[in-house]
Amino acid sequence: MTDVFGLSHKDAGPATGQARHEQVVFCSDERSGLHAIIAIHNTALGPGLGGTRFYPYESEQAALADVLNLSRAMAYKNALAGLDLGGGKAVIIGDPAKDKSEALLRAYGRFVQSLGGRYYTACDVGTYSEDMDIVARECSYVTGRTLANGGAGDSSILTALGVFQGMRAAAEHTYGTPTLRGRRVGVEGVGKVGHRLVGHLIEDGAEVVVCDVSERAVERLRRIHPQVEVVADRLELTAADVDVYAPCALGGALDDETVARLRATIVCGGANNQLGHPGVEKQLADRGILYAPDYVVNSGGVIQVADEIGGFNMERAQAKALQIYDTTLKIFSSAAEDGVPPAVAADRLAERRMSEVGRIRGIWLGH
Ligand SMILES: NC(=O)c1ccc[n+]([C@@H]2O[C@H](COP(=O)([O-])OP(=O)(O)OC[C@H]3O[C@@H](n4cnc5c(N)ncnc54)[C@H](O)[C@@H]3O)[C@@H](O)[C@H]2O)c1
Repeated sequence: MTDVFGLSHKDAGPATGQARHEQVVFCSDERSGLHAIIAIHNTALGPGLGGTRFYPYESEQAALADVLNLSRAMAYKNALAGLDLGGGKAVIIGDPAKDKSEALLRAYGRFVQSLGGRYYTACDVGTYSEDMDIVARECSYVTGRTLANGGAGDSSILTALGVFQGMRAAAEHTYGTPTLRGRRVGVEGVGKVGHRLVGHLIEDGAEVVVCDVSERAVERLRRIHPQVEVVADRLELTAADVDVYAPCALGGALDDETVARLRATIVCGGANNQLGHPGVEKQLADRGILYAPDYVVNSGGVIQVADEIGGFNMERAQAKALQIYDTTLKIFSSAAEDGVPPAVAADRLAERRMSEVGRIRGIWLGH
């Protein structure tokens, strides 16, 4: 496979898994160097919303596989976040440090605009609020802009708040009390989301131990919270005597070895795609570890940027992010009732909402 821009959707092959997408758009502007793919998984609940990943994919096929999977994940995340939004995502193929330019971003904006509002974009890996301001000069369907431009700004604020709410729900389910007071929590990755999560935990009275590959990230955290314990790496953190393990770095944190090593009774963190492969959710359940599904507890960020569509209001967005507590509790009880891991229960609840609420669009409204 050499040229994704010559591919049809069905050529995506096994990388698409079970997902059937409503629309996949290949966008190309040679002069600015834009090569992008926009995928809309479904619009049962509303226009697809999901960020733009700007990444030097090793192959065009890899970019296509990524955008198909990511847009599907956004459909589930948006559904359980209670948003009237479907699942969409975009990837721009290239190195953001070298290839990003005003012309490229504006060309991209014109392609998003051409979809007429079926897809709303936002920031993701490699794109920032300032980039969305540029995209917005050509396009009305942009969120995650800077505060100065009426945007929601840094989405990690409500992502971290949401993860904390999910963790409180996990504590309620496990210990019968919705607090981390007196518990020991291991946070892997103290970047934008992780360092804010540590703040919530300390305020709640938890003891926190962290690791990060970036010394700068650790130093910044230690300046604000000197009481935090730092361990060398994720190997040490995942083997540590903690009550809760919070993956807040990269995806795939929960592989077979990590699950076998864990001493925590709860896993709840901000990272996307934490389950390394299908079946890990069952391994966690079999070991008696409560897993708070990643896309449920980290949906505060999308809640924050989605609020921008109607004119951003932080208080309203925050109130919605606080509901992640109830949603997470509901998933745990539904999982217990159905005898399935919470990840399976979450998928079922998301599919039910997409199907039940999506169906009402079939009611004829008259002329
Ligand atoms: N920012 C958001 O609003 C948001 C929303 C939803 C999900 N997420 C997900 O949360 C995770 C963190 O996002 P972020 O915005 O904080 O990113 P970030 O880049 O600011 O932080 C990630 C941190 O993890 C560290 N890290 C990388 N590899 C590591 C390793 N092996 N061990 C320990 N630390 C490691 C990095 O040095 C960095 O400090 C990502 O998976 C992201 O997709 C973020």
